[in-house]
Amino acid sequence: MDAIVALAKRRGFVFQSSEIYGGLNGFFDYGPLGTELKKNIRDCWWNDLVHRRDDIVGLESSIIMHPKVWEASGHVAGFTDPLVDCKVSKQRYRADQLFFAPVVVETEQPFPITELPLAGFQSDLLGGTPPTYGTTIGYVSALENERTNEELLEKAEALKRKKAIRGKLRPLVVNDFTVASERDIPNVPSPATGEAGSLTPPRAFNMMFETYVGALRDDSAKSYLRPETAQGMFVDFKNVVDTGRVKLPFGIAQIGKSFRNEITPRNFIFRSREFEQMEMEYFIHPDADWLKCHEEWLTWCRAWLVSIGLPESHLSLYEHPKEKLSFYSRRTVDIMFNFPFGVQELWGIAARSDYDLQQHQKFSGVPQTWFDEATKQKVVPHVIEPAVGVDRILLAVLCAGYVEDEAPDEKGKLEKRTVLRLSPRIAPVKVAVLPLLKNKEQLVGRARALHTKLKRKYAAFYDDGGAIGKRYRRQDEIGTPWCVTIDFETIEKPGDTFTLRERDSMKQTRITEAELFALLEEKVY
Ligand code: GAP
Repeated sequence: MDAIVALAKRRGFVFQSSEIYGGLNGFFDYGPLGTELKKNIRDCWWNDLVHRRDDIVGLESSIIMHPKVWEASGHVAGFTDPLVDCKVSKQRYRADQLFFAPVVVETEQPFPITELPLAGFQSDLLGGTPPTYGTTIGYVSALENERTNEELLEKAEALKRKKAIRGKLRPLVVNDFTVASERDIPNVPSPATGEAGSLTPPRAFNMMFETYVGALRDDSAKSYLRPETAQGMFVDFKNVVDTGRVKLPFGIAQIGKSFRNEITPRNFIFRSREFEQMEMEYFIHPDADWLKCHEEWLTWCRAWLVSIGLPESHLSLYEHPKEKLSFYSRRTVDIMFNFPFGVQELWGIAARSDYDLQQHQKFSGVPQTWFDEATKQKVVPHVIEPAVGVDRILLAVLCAGYVEDEAPDEKGKLEKRTVLRLSPRIAPVKVAVLPLLKNKEQLVGRARALHTKLKRKYAAFYDDGGAIGKRYRRQDEIGTPWCVTIDFETIEKPGDTFTLRERDSMKQTRITEAELFALLEEKVY
């Protein structure tokens, strides 16, 4: 992960926001290449979903909406994460990301009350032959990571050694802090200090950023930066129906910024406080087979991720257990991606029933219905929602595409090469044009002419600085799929052909201008 973050900074993909002032946690800026990459991801999604289908239309709603929207949607009451404070270090944690376990040692004799290692606990009879007793000697804690359970076990063994207690360690019963009891809480060590006694009980923390609209700074002027783009589609549902001649089933798609005051923004741009979402609300008839529709969108989303270059082998599905579904969902399946820091949610596909439209109908008093010509009845449609973060997809393509391999230098000696294997669909630069020598007018003239022509349609880059191998390497590192070299054969032999060098295989072939345009036309769509 460190290598990917370093490349992102070095080559101008992603910067920490406000870096010269020490940065602001959970906020990021996209540099010239990152901006292109992000735009290409957005464009692919928009083109495939809105332009290339007949049943989906676009929308751009405002970021700050009437505060009633967020009451109706349930976000004011329910968009919370469980927060835990460490009173000593002043660090804050998400309770569901803080794991703990009592450390129980099995002994043949119960500990005498006076020697019990932990106040308020006693030796419990565990049974067996001969009978054994379990004594709680302390607690261990760890923040969620790829090896939380191993870390907890190591800490438990260290605690047993430190307290010099003999006996077998019982298998740890690990829980997250949301279920910590009154007896557990004072005994769980803070991840910041390693000492128990400073963690507060979990409390609900609303993640919406508040703001004030107008000159007044009281509750009547309070509003929120939207935590999801989805509500725009629900609130404008009637406007689209009344103006767009849409028929069920149909979708409304939107790309835009969302804001969440995440307690623990982390893993680079994976979880940030300002991020961009691509969401689509697919409205279906209440009698339609919603499960089938949900499955179809799952299939579509997965295939789309593969179409922009994510390997199928890195993708998996996670079905949310019924008892953990969001307040609006009747079924949610996440497409997961195997990031270097673990398998994590990339894209959530939720069946939201008619929850949102019913809520807005109730709170606004305006009917949120569609007229069914067949039955001559007004119905409140149900919704299937694929919701994904642009930043998270960008991180996934960087992680999947980052490869270190070897390539020969000018003298044929193998040297380390960093490559970003980005799909031509999303690569920031599609093709680089390189005259073999920069002091040969004919080479430079032909290269400039080709570059000018390519630029009209594709992001093309001209580079005449340094040895040709170095120039290839620079393009490999930013994911440019092809380099075209204008060499002596181009100007001296008939056919006006160039050397086409392919990024991943490093294979070189000769190609004409017409063939180059045909290749780009086929691969960049
Ligand atoms: N409208 C439903 C909704 O917003 P979500 O699962 O909270 O559902 C959808 O978010 C997607 O948005 C996630 O799958 C993820 O890709 C992205 N996302 C959510 N929170 C994010 C954050 N703090 N930083 C970056 N991306 C985030």
